[in-house]
Amino acid sequence: MILSHIVAASENNVIGINNTLPWHIPEDLKFFKDKTNNHIMIMGRKTFESLPGGKPLPNRLHIVITRNPGYSKPGAITVTSLNQALEESKKHTSKYGDEVFIIGGGEIFKQSLDLVNKIYLTRIYKNIDGDTFYPELNEDSFKQTEKIDKTDPLEYSFLTYLNLGTHQY
Ligand SMILES: NC(=O)c1ccc[n+]([C@@H]2O[C@H](COP(=O)([O-])OP(=O)(O)OC[C@H]3O[C@@H](n4cnc5c(N)ncnc54)[C@H](OP(=O)(O)O)[C@@H]3O)[C@@H](O)[C@H]2O)c1
Repeated sequence: MILSHIVAASENNVIGINNTLPWHIPEDLKFFKDKTNNHIMIMGRKTFESLPGGKPLPNRLHIVITRNPGYSKPGAITVTSLNQALEESKKHTSKYGDEVFIIGGGEIFKQSLDLVNKIYLTRIYKNIDGDTFYPELNEDSFKQTEKIDKTDPLEYSFLTYLNLGTHQY
């Protein structure tokens, strides 16, 4: 299993405001959809509730982390820890593929940063107001391996980072 973050962050590491995204970048949404299609997505309860209509996206297995053991939503598997999310993921990789995506939000990104093999970071070259942040990347731990620059509707890049440590799942 390969564990990846997929995230869009501003120059000042903002990823969200009022439980929504602070920008609308159609090509980034397409990037997210294409990458995660038919894959497992792990997310915090707040990110799950921020999905359009508060409902699961089609063609993906949703694993939702919450401290509330009674939390239950149609189309989602609920777990009560990140560890449990990883254990649950392993049961489904034969159907949904070996790459498992952690899709947010801030709390879950922070808690899993040291665990991921790979990061897909859409870096938006602007300071943006927000209330939720992506953690600062330590350049000693992560190496940038890809950079694709974009300009529409504003300047941003699709960046890929690999964790220089080895994590095997
Ligand atoms: N730009 C991006 O790429 C991106 C991606 C995803 C999300 N976002 C944005 O990020 C924001 C949401 O992020 P967030 O940090 O507020 O929330 P979050 O990480 O999505 O979810 C937080 C919730 O996860 C549960 N949780 C966290 N740690 C846990 C643990 N160790 N064990 C069990 N449960 C745990 C708790 O749920 P309970 O309260 O139910 O216990 C907690 O309230 C929104 O604005 C969203 O739009 C942005």
